[in-house]
Amino acid sequence: YRGYPIEQLAENSTYLEVAYLLLNGELPKADELAVWEKTIGSHAMVHESVRQFLDGFRWGSHTMGMLVSVLGAKSTFYPDSRNISSPELMELHTARLVSKVATVAALCYRHSRGLPYIYPDASLGFCENFLNMLFNSPNTKYEPNPILVKALEVLFILHADHEQNCSTSTMRGIGSSLADPYSSTAGAAAALYGPLHGGANEAVLKMLMEIGDVKNVPSYIERVKSREVLLQGFGHRVYKHYDPRASIVKQTANEVFEVTGRNSLIDIAMELERIALEDDFFVSRKLYPNVDFYSGIIYQAMGLPVDMYPVLFAIPRTAGWLAQWKEMMHD
Ligand code: CMC
Repeated sequence: YRGYPIEQLAENSTYLEVAYLLLNGELPKADELAVWEKTIGSHAMVHESVRQFLDGFRWGSHTMGMLVSVLGAKSTFYPDSRNISSPELMELHTARLVSKVATVAALCYRHSRGLPYIYPDASLGFCENFLNMLFNSPNTKYEPNPILVKALEVLFILHADHEQNCSTSTMRGIGSSLADPYSSTAGAAAALYGPLHGGANEAVLKMLMEIGDVKNVPSYIERVKSREVLLQGFGHRVYKHYDPRASIVKQTANEVFEVTGRNSLIDIAMELERIALEDDFFVSRKLYPNVDFYSGIIYQAMGLPVDMYPVLFAIPRTAGWLAQWKEMMHD
């Protein structure tokens, strides 16, 4: 990102620092970070009527479908976002989106489960607040485990941006008509939804559950090779080698399991990887695990439902989309 190796950022930075880096070209100094964190915290509330129109969605609706709709609807709350003529307005709506996407994502999750909504808490860090909005409850106090907060920071950092992929191109395509950034972000999120892109983490989990046992891995690999199914979480348009983000995710999985207990699906995933990396079908096509191969296993261990996985991709990618949109608008 902006010349920094991803490993270095995952090790030393928070997601909000990385979002600042993507949007501004350099990591924030201490005073800049303090202002940025405060700004993001101050924008985290959403208008109460968002809750009302969320109520129009069926109970159990897919959270990504709701997120796409609510992001688009947000443009109606900010009419001046349709006329991004000043750098100040661009900055304002960028900060709003980076912040509010997490609140909206949490509201979608709570609605889909029929749970009462939890308001954002500006005294918490971005990821801590997000976990709090997901899991706190009026009758049982939730305290996010710092190791899980750190894991989420790392996953958000890894997912924050990645070149001119499907959703980023959509952001730029819609933004090029001078549509407001809420509508462009909704379009980008819709592009992310598909299983070949940000929906892959959800597809991986479903695949692992379908395989069900390590002993069934060889027969699944045969189905992939006969082109009956895809090996979800493998292959990448840019990487024709091991995706550097996948190595970090794998390492993060072990740290999360120390807290949550081991997710047995990782054994199936590791066996799929072992066989695939030795098999000429995958080797000759340069197919390696990508960022989504192990991320769903972590999210599941953290207690997050499968339909939230693309949403968890969309939250940090919003910073990347906006950085690309901003670059295009300035160009
Ligand atoms: N399983 C089985 N075969 C595959 C896979 C896979 N996951 N990915 C590619 N191939 C085969 C493909 O059939 C083709 O074979 P052939 O040349 O014999 O026709 C060859 O490998 C090259 O495929 P391609 O479609 O030209 O590769 P691409 O670089 O255009 O596609 C991809 C990239 C990510 C769409 C694809 O690898 C894929 O569908 N992967 C599974 C979905 C996935 O994990 N997506 C997440 C991507 S990373 C996160 C993100 O950015 O969203």
